[in-house]
Amino acid sequence: MVTLLAGPRSLDDLLRQYAVGPGPVVRANFVTTLDGHATGGDGLSGSINSAADKQVFDLLRALADVVVVGAGTIRAEGYGRLRTEDPALLELRRAAGRPDHPVLAVVTASGELPEKVLTPDPEAGDLLALCAGAVTEELSASLGPDAVIACGTDSVEPTTAVRALHERGLGHVLTEGGPHLLGGWVRAGVLDELCLTVRPVVVGGTGPRILEAPIGSGPLARFELRHALAVEGDLMLRYVAVKESRTRHQSGTGPHLN
Ligand SMILES: NC(=O)c1ccc[n+]([C@@H]2O[C@H](COP(=O)([O-])OP(=O)(O)OC[C@H]3O[C@@H](n4cnc5c(N)ncnc54)[C@H](OP(=O)(O)O)[C@@H]3O)[C@@H](O)[C@H]2O)c1
Repeated sequence: MVTLLAGPRSLDDLLRQYAVGPGPVVRANFVTTLDGHATGGDGLSGSINSAADKQVFDLLRALADVVVVGAGTIRAEGYGRLRTEDPALLELRRAAGRPDHPVLAVVTASGELPEKVLTPDPEAGDLLALCAGAVTEELSASLGPDAVIACGTDSVEPTTAVRALHERGLGHVLTEGGPHLLGGWVRAGVLDELCLTVRPVVVGGTGPRILEAPIGSGPLARFELRHALAVEGDLMLRYVAVKESRTRHQSGTGPHLN
């Protein structure tokens, strides 16, 4: 059933809307403008988000064991290790038996990671590198072998990466992008959910959309709407991937939402 709600939401409301079952899950969280841009004119997503979007962004992080981010986004957005600041979200993690801060897993083939994310922070979560090829050895030497997972030869294979995270007990996987990483994950069929905020602004011109890499030929990847939360013109949407949509033809298989 699709839930449609309007107006500001309390943390408890949001928890009900974004709750997941006990098993492993792979979820993505993105923000887009009305004209499909994943960044503002400054090339960053921070300039197109809002307080309501940030509330969901923080909650989704707090529900996750690990947040997976492509090195392009790490470099562009200046990511450091992840820290749960909000006392209510800290409480939530502790009640769920999670460590205070989620692990940050960086996906890279080049190994070019900024100093900020490489620097250990005792007040924040651990860092994992999901990498491919020769860079695996280089990163193992600097981060330690336990912090590095080899997931392919030329690129990080999404199925291998997700399996490795689950095997480490990191069942709830959240990815915050970016657009090239998301393309690969949709193509590989590892994504269970897409949480998408639509902001009522337009940017114009060219720029990245939420999904930049091709997902291959064949049927479209399809998603089923679970909820739509409207807060001050923003729409916070939760979509669940229709897994068979990439392997079967569309006629009569998944829900038709457009
Ligand atoms: N609107 C939103 O919600 C949102 C979310 C996230 C990011 N963004 C924006 O998106 C822009 C960045 O876009 P992007 O597409 O470059 O981001 P991205 O997907 O995070 O970065 C691409 C880079 O990540 C690594 N990577 C991704 N998938 C890989 C794979 N399968 N195997 C190996 N390496 C992989 C590679 O890093 P190496 O080059 O190190 O090999 C690749 O060059 C930024 O402007 C950011 O602000 C927007």
